[in-house]
Amino acid sequence: MNINWNTQIYCLIGHPISKTLSPVIHNNFYKLIDKNNIYLAFDVEEKDLYTIIEAIKILKIKGFNVTIPHKTIIINYLDKISEEAKLIGAVNTVKNIDNKLIGYNTDGAGFIKSLELMNIDVKGKNILILGAGGAAKAIATSLALAEVNSIFISNRTLEKAKKLSQKLKYQFPRVLIDYGRLDLKKVDKKNIHMVVNCTSIGMYPNIDELPIKLDGFSQNLIVYDIVYKPKKTKLLKLAENKGYKTIDGLNMLINQGLYSQQIWLEDENYNIYNYFYKIRRIL
Ligand code: ATR
Repeated sequence: MNINWNTQIYCLIGHPISKTLSPVIHNNFYKLIDKNNIYLAFDVEEKDLYTIIEAIKILKIKGFNVTIPHKTIIINYLDKISEEAKLIGAVNTVKNIDNKLIGYNTDGAGFIKSLELMNIDVKGKNILILGAGGAAKAIATSLALAEVNSIFISNRTLEKAKKLSQKLKYQFPRVLIDYGRLDLKKVDKKNIHMVVNCTSIGMYPNIDELPIKLDGFSQNLIVYDIVYKPKKTKLLKLAENKGYKTIDGLNMLINQGLYSQQIWLEDENYNIYNYFYKIRRIL
């Protein structure tokens, strides 16, 4: 990479950001498209957000990603947010157009894109989501926008599952929404087409148990684990042993990044998704 006066900076802001793979994804993308851009990661605490946003404007940084814990609070600093970001209540991508900051959320769209790349159509399907945090909210919203038939939210803390399902019910009256605990006592397992693990279970292979047992599902089940480190979680290994189709979290991670690039480079007509497999091979 030849960094010079004309190099355009993009970045991630979050806290902590020590283990993020985003710079690897975005800088490899810039290398593949031969673009004089660089993507950096900045560890920014909430108290410094205002100053950082002003700096971003002064430095004419054209786009940045936002990660934990700033995805919701960042909305206060933006001029406009997309409909999807509004529904999710969180922003992970910001575009700077002449110092007007526009917020988007590419987490859910990246998730749906990863299904499309595997020729999986979720329209009319019944989905079981494990977890009720930020990732579960983005994914449930994108699934509802993709016109699934039903979404069941299972979570360790029942109150959080209830709150998320109430919000979704209000936003998407046509989708059947229900909630319960991770014991799945209320779930009609035979009718579930896909399970998505949005809990952090699986990130710590030495201590982690499975979020759920995988008995009683139909043989066509798809098991998607959004945890990407390790690539193959205990849940995915078990699913594979049972002969289910499995998808790991790197798919969503790369695609949410490529969606950010599509937003930032929209005038330049790159076919962003040509680069998915090339980047996946690097990670
Ligand atoms: P993210 O933004 O990645 O979704 P989060 O908002 O902190 O992160 O949500 C983490 C999710 O993983 C939550 O649903 C959490 O369950 P609780 O609502 O009960 O906290 C779930 N989770 C984390 N560790 C868990 C564990 N050991 N067992 C069951 N669920 C767990």
